[in-house]
Amino acid sequence: MSGLTCLILSSLLVAYASAQCPSPWEPNTLYPGFCYYHYVFPVSWDTANTICQIFAGGDLASIDEFEEGTVIYDYWNRTAIDQSLGYWIGLTDIHDSGLGTRQWTDWTSLQGKTNWQGGQRPTDTSEDCVYVANEGDTDEERKQWRATSCTLVLKTFICERKLVIN
Ligand SMILES: *[C@@H]1O[C@H](CO)[C@@H](O)[C@H](O)[C@H]1NC(C)=O
Repeated sequence: MSGLTCLILSSLLVAYASAQCPSPWEPNTLYPGFCYYHYVFPVSWDTANTICQIFAGGDLASIDEFEEGTVIYDYWNRTAIDQSLGYWIGLTDIHDSGLGTRQWTDWTSLQGKTNWQGGQRPTDTSEDCVYVANEGDTDEERKQWRATSCTLVLKTFICERKLVIN
Protein backbone atom coordinates (compact mmCIF):
# COMPACT_ATOMS: atom_id res chain seq x y z
CA MET A 1 0.00 0.00 0.00
CA SER A 2 1.43 3.38 -0.93
CA GLY A 3 1.95 6.01 1.72
CA LEU A 4 -0.75 8.18 0.19
CA THR A 5 -3.31 5.35 0.03
CA CYS A 6 -2.46 4.47 3.61
CA LEU A 7 -2.92 8.09 4.65
CA ILE A 8 -6.28 8.35 2.87
CA LEU A 9 -7.51 5.03 4.29
CA SER A 10 -6.42 5.88 7.80
CA SER A 11 -8.09 9.28 7.67
CA LEU A 12 -11.27 7.59 6.43
CA LEU A 13 -11.00 5.16 9.34
CA VAL A 14 -10.51 7.99 11.79
CA ALA A 15 -13.56 9.74 10.34
CA TYR A 16 -15.50 6.49 10.60
CA ALA A 17 -14.41 5.64 14.12
CA SER A 18 -15.16 9.03 15.60
CA ALA A 19 -17.89 10.11 13.16
CA GLN A 20 -16.22 13.47 12.68
CA CYS A 21 -16.43 15.81 9.75
CA PRO A 22 -13.52 15.07 7.40
CA SER A 23 -10.98 17.88 7.21
CA PRO A 24 -11.40 20.66 6.10
CA TRP A 25 -15.12 20.42 6.92
CA GLU A 26 -16.12 22.09 10.16
CA PRO A 27 -18.26 20.14 12.65
CA ASN A 28 -21.68 21.54 13.40
CA THR A 29 -21.51 21.62 17.18
CA LEU A 30 -25.26 22.18 17.42
CA TYR A 31 -26.31 19.30 15.16
CA PRO A 32 -23.68 16.55 15.28
CA GLY A 33 -23.70 14.63 12.03
CA PHE A 34 -23.72 17.79 9.93
CA CYS A 35 -20.65 19.62 8.68
CA TYR A 36 -19.94 23.06 7.17
CA TYR A 37 -17.46 24.28 4.60
CA HIS A 38 -16.66 27.92 3.92
CA TYR A 39 -15.75 28.62 0.28
CA VAL A 40 -13.75 31.83 0.46
CA PHE A 41 -13.98 32.86 -3.21
CA PRO A 42 -16.94 35.11 -4.08
CA VAL A 43 -19.51 33.84 -6.59
CA SER A 44 -23.22 34.42 -7.32
CA TRP A 45 -25.82 32.65 -5.16
CA ASP A 46 -26.73 30.46 -8.15
CA THR A 47 -23.12 29.34 -8.58
CA ALA A 48 -22.65 28.84 -4.84
CA ASN A 49 -25.77 26.67 -4.76
CA THR A 50 -24.44 24.55 -7.65
CA ILE A 51 -21.01 24.16 -6.04
CA CYS A 52 -22.53 23.03 -2.74
CA GLN A 53 -24.85 20.53 -4.45
CA ILE A 54 -22.61 19.11 -7.14
CA PHE A 55 -19.07 19.44 -5.83
CA ALA A 56 -19.59 19.41 -2.08
CA GLY A 57 -22.48 16.93 -1.92
CA GLY A 58 -24.59 19.18 0.28
CA ASP A 59 -26.53 22.42 0.14
CA LEU A 60 -25.92 26.03 1.01
CA ALA A 61 -26.14 26.18 4.80
CA SER A 62 -29.61 26.48 6.29
CA ILE A 63 -30.13 28.31 9.57
CA ASP A 64 -32.84 26.40 11.36
CA GLU A 65 -32.42 28.05 14.74
CA PHE A 66 -30.99 31.40 15.80
CA GLU A 67 -28.19 29.51 17.57
CA GLU A 68 -27.20 27.80 14.33
CA GLY A 69 -26.82 31.25 12.79
CA THR A 70 -24.35 32.07 15.55
CA VAL A 71 -22.40 28.82 15.05
CA ILE A 72 -22.13 29.55 11.31
CA TYR A 73 -21.27 33.21 11.87
CA ASP A 74 -18.47 32.31 14.30
CA TYR A 75 -17.03 29.81 11.80
CA TRP A 76 -17.22 32.41 9.01
CA ASN A 77 -15.73 35.06 11.28
CA ARG A 78 -12.73 32.80 11.97
CA THR A 79 -12.14 31.85 8.34
CA ALA A 80 -13.12 34.86 6.23
CA ILE A 81 -10.40 36.56 4.22
CA ASP A 82 -12.58 39.56 3.32
CA GLN A 83 -15.43 40.32 5.70
CA SER A 84 -16.88 43.23 3.75
CA LEU A 85 -19.27 41.26 1.54
CA GLY A 86 -21.03 39.01 4.02
CA TYR A 87 -21.84 35.45 2.89
CA TRP A 88 -24.60 33.50 1.15
CA ILE A 89 -26.84 31.12 3.03
CA GLY A 90 -29.30 28.62 1.58
CA LEU A 91 -32.39 30.78 1.66
CA THR A 92 -34.13 31.84 -1.52
CA ASP A 93 -37.51 32.39 -3.04
CA ILE A 94 -36.10 32.22 -6.55
CA HIS A 95 -38.53 29.38 -7.38
CA ASP A 96 -41.64 31.38 -6.71
CA SER A 97 -40.54 34.91 -7.71
CA GLY A 98 -41.20 36.56 -4.41
CA LEU A 99 -44.86 35.60 -4.23
CA GLY A 100 -44.70 32.78 -1.76
CA THR A 101 -42.70 31.66 1.24
CA ARG A 102 -38.95 31.81 1.14
CA GLN A 103 -37.50 28.34 1.49
CA TRP A 104 -34.14 26.84 2.36
CA THR A 105 -32.45 25.06 -0.51
CA ASP A 106 -32.78 21.85 1.44
CA TRP A 107 -36.48 22.69 1.63
CA THR A 108 -36.67 22.85 5.41
CA SER A 109 -39.63 25.04 6.22
CA LEU A 110 -38.81 28.48 7.61
CA GLN A 111 -41.40 28.18 10.39
CA GLY A 112 -41.12 31.86 11.18
CA LYS A 113 -37.55 31.56 12.44
CA THR A 114 -36.05 34.45 10.54
CA ASN A 115 -33.47 37.10 11.28
CA TRP A 116 -34.07 39.86 8.72
CA GLN A 117 -32.15 43.09 9.02
CA GLY A 118 -34.56 45.64 10.49
CA GLY A 119 -37.04 42.83 11.15
CA GLN A 120 -38.51 43.26 7.69
CA ARG A 121 -38.87 40.47 5.15
CA PRO A 122 -37.61 41.86 1.82
CA THR A 123 -40.29 42.29 -0.83
CA ASP A 124 -38.29 43.25 -3.94
CA THR A 125 -38.89 40.41 -6.39
CA SER A 126 -35.52 40.99 -8.09
CA GLU A 127 -33.82 40.22 -4.76
CA ASP A 128 -34.50 36.56 -4.13
CA CYS A 129 -31.34 35.27 -2.48
CA VAL A 130 -30.30 35.74 1.11
CA TYR A 131 -26.97 36.53 2.74
CA VAL A 132 -25.70 37.32 6.22
CA ALA A 133 -24.73 40.95 5.83
CA ASN A 134 -22.14 41.45 8.60
CA GLU A 135 -23.43 45.00 8.96
CA GLY A 136 -24.22 47.04 12.05
CA ASP A 137 -22.54 47.87 15.32
CA THR A 138 -23.51 44.93 17.50
CA ASP A 139 -22.69 41.22 17.22
CA GLU A 140 -26.42 40.49 16.93
CA GLU A 141 -26.90 42.97 14.06
CA ARG A 142 -23.96 41.48 12.18
CA LYS A 143 -25.72 38.10 11.97
CA GLN A 144 -28.85 39.52 10.34
CA TRP A 145 -30.02 38.65 6.84
CA ARG A 146 -30.56 40.67 3.67
CA ALA A 147 -31.68 39.65 0.19
CA THR A 148 -30.17 40.58 -3.15
CA SER A 149 -29.83 39.38 -6.75
CA CYS A 150 -29.13 35.65 -7.12
CA THR A 151 -27.03 36.16 -10.25
CA LEU A 152 -25.42 39.62 -10.23
CA VAL A 153 -23.88 39.87 -6.76
CA LEU A 154 -20.81 37.88 -5.67
CA LYS A 155 -20.20 36.62 -2.14
CA THR A 156 -18.40 33.82 -0.35
CA PHE A 157 -20.61 31.05 0.99
CA ILE A 158 -21.05 28.22 3.49
CA CYS A 159 -22.06 24.72 2.39
CA GLU A 160 -23.58 22.21 4.79
CA ARG A 161 -23.74 18.47 4.36
CA LYS A 162 -24.60 15.36 6.29
CA LEU A 163 -21.69 13.40 7.63
CA VAL A 164 -21.86 10.25 5.48
CA ILE A 165 -20.39 7.11 6.94
CA ASN A 166 -20.01 4.29 4.44
C1 LIG B 1 -15.64 38.23 15.03
O1 LIG B 1 -14.30 38.01 15.44
C2 LIG B 1 -13.72 39.14 16.06
C3 LIG B 1 -12.24 38.84 16.27
O2 LIG B 1 -12.08 37.60 16.88
C4 LIG B 1 -14.46 39.43 17.38
O3 LIG B 1 -13.92 40.55 18.01
C5 LIG B 1 -15.94 39.71 17.03
O4 LIG B 1 -16.68 39.88 18.22
C6 LIG B 1 -16.52 38.56 16.22
N1 LIG B 1 -17.85 38.97 15.77
C7 LIG B 1 -18.98 38.40 16.21
C8 LIG B 1 -20.24 38.98 15.70
O5 LIG B 1 -19.00 37.44 16.97
